[in-house]
Amino acid sequence: MQTSTLLKPSCYVNDAAFDWLYPEKMQQLSRRHWTPLSIAKTAARFLANEPGKKILDIGSGVGKFCLVGARFYPETTFVGIEQREELYQYAMEAKEVTQARNAHFIHGNFTQTDLSVYDGFYFYNSFFENLVDQDQIDDKVEQSASLYNYYSRYLFKKLESSASGTRLVTFHSLEDEVPPCYQLVDTSTDLMLKMWIRR
Ligand SMILES: C[S@@+](CC[C@H](N)C(=O)[O-])C[C@H]1O[C@@H](n2cnc3c(N)ncnc32)[C@H](O)[C@@H]1O
Repeated sequence: MQTSTLLKPSCYVNDAAFDWLYPEKMQQLSRRHWTPLSIAKTAARFLANEPGKKILDIGSGVGKFCLVGARFYPETTFVGIEQREELYQYAMEAKEVTQARNAHFIHGNFTQTDLSVYDGFYFYNSFFENLVDQDQIDDKVEQSASLYNYYSRYLFKKLESSASGTRLVTFHSLEDEVPPCYQLVDTSTDLMLKMWIRR
């Protein structure tokens, strides 16, 4: 049994319980900005299809996807990169509390990290905040339609040059970042969650 199971059995029971790992202002953002527990489990199951895989959450927020994935798939490494330092700090604190040894967090822009070392990617429409001016997480980062285009195009190119067999999960995505060489292999019934494999 995982140490985390012994220490924090209740936080994986439902979203409200998990969100208690965070300060109240982060809990209030959860419905709109953080992956629901059931979605995180489904996405992690697809990405962690073999032991030893290394998965990157592009825009990891407070770390919810990585921490849930790490709890249920202890043989997989989950890494989250997050541009907002405050959210990165909350992810690190939650990692400490849950003692998730296979979850790791990086503070920075995803364009500054080497994507070629990962076997799979999770993407919860992280660039969409550049296209809307309501329900923002905060006003601490630059946002513009041209940044949306730049990030989407950048990720498209990196995914296109990834190895055959690379797995990708998108949630609420407009799919601007998904190259045609990625084959859709499964979806949720509402089509919000999509699983892809690079041919
Ligand atoms: C919708 S939230 C998803 C958070 C997390 N993946 C989850 O599912 O719970 C998207 C996150 O992506 C981050 N983000 C957006 N653009 C980014 C970039 N270029 N580099 C790193 N993080 C970014 C935002 O700050 C935000 O925290």
